[in-house]
Amino acid sequence: MDLQGLKLAVVGATGAVGQETLRLIEDRYPQHTNLKLLASKRSAGRKINVNGATFTVSEATEDSFDDVDIAFISVSTEASLHFGPIAAAAGAMVIDDSSAFRMDPKVPLVVPEVNGDDLAWHDGIVSIPNCSTTPLVMVAHPLRQASPIRRILADTYQSVSGAGGAAMNELRDQTRTVMHGGPAEPQAQPQAIAFNVFPHIDGFTATGYTREEEKMINESRKILHEPEMAVSATCVRVPVFVSHCVAAHLEFDQPVSPGEARELLNGMPGVTVQDDPAQGVYPTPVEAAGRDDVFVGRIRQDASHPNGLAMWVVTDNLVKGAALNALQIAEHAVERGEVHGLR
Ligand SMILES: NC(=O)c1ccc[n+]([C@@H]2O[C@H](COP(=O)([O-])OP(=O)(O)OC[C@H]3O[C@@H](n4cnc5c(N)ncnc54)[C@H](OP(=O)(O)O)[C@@H]3O)[C@@H](O)[C@H]2O)c1
Repeated sequence: MDLQGLKLAVVGATGAVGQETLRLIEDRYPQHTNLKLLASKRSAGRKINVNGATFTVSEATEDSFDDVDIAFISVSTEASLHFGPIAAAAGAMVIDDSSAFRMDPKVPLVVPEVNGDDLAWHDGIVSIPNCSTTPLVMVAHPLRQASPIRRILADTYQSVSGAGGAAMNELRDQTRTVMHGGPAEPQAQPQAIAFNVFPHIDGFTATGYTREEEKMINESRKILHEPEMAVSATCVRVPVFVSHCVAAHLEFDQPVSPGEARELLNGMPGVTVQDDPAQGVYPTPVEAAGRDDVFVGRIRQDASHPNGLAMWVVTDNLVKGAALNALQIAEHAVERGEVHGLR
């Protein structure tokens, strides 16, 4: 079962995630041209080629979804809040990439390899997680077969593509300017990104965490069905174009050996273990870019806790962190006969 024959709308088709969605449709469904490309008024009229056919981008409006089976929505949270319910009411299954619906108790938050069964209770809208949460739960899920997880500490190194196309352009342009002795003037991001890192992704909250960090905490608990699990995160932007890295420390009820962890991670679909540091084998963002899997290496006993493991997790934030996860949700929903809008 696949998406062939279904009318797919890509909302935000001109953005970083939308473009990746189209690339993956070409990759996975080279015959598929039953598409509708939508964006804001700014991009209306733009031509985009997919699978040899030329599509004209239209402005997303309330009438855009009447003939759509599945709408992949990759726009701002505000635009998702507006268009998500409209598309679901028009009969489309909505798969939303923003943070608009992730913590809504009526909306499943899904990584198919981890909690695909949650699709059974969707009511027209399904959300994908934040792009650092997805790789974290992809490694936590198989490991909890060895022993329940008590606590997760996750520190991230997130690429600029996580902040969209404008932030990617800013890294390129700012690096060039600084290399020629000019000033780094941040516009798309809160700080200069060329030759810099900063622990500031999304806004700060009253807790002292950023919203990005709170997303990792709350979304991991929701996906893993562990509402009380102890989780903490520090999210850091780094001058890398694509792929997010997570230095993850997991504490279990009982000791779990690095060997057992490697075996469990090797058996997890969508995870590739790259762990031979003596030979220089461990994942990096440059090598993970453009690839489907979550890569994990540097798996070792945590020196600070007898029941702890430390590891290094890398994934392409635009692929499994966004567009691929959304497509896999759609494929999973087709398999389960769960493609529908608001009932
Ligand atoms: N980047 C990632 O790694 C990642 C991962 C997971 C989730 N997400 C989420 O996915 C969403 C999109 O992110 P992105 O990185 O692709 O952002 P982006 O590169 O800035 O693209 C935003 C897209 O949204 C469209 N858009 C904006 N306002 C709109 C409106 N009112 N109506 C219709 N379309 C509108 C834009 O169209 P125009 O060209 O017309 O402006 C553009 O196509 C965000 O919610 C983000 O949090 C991103």
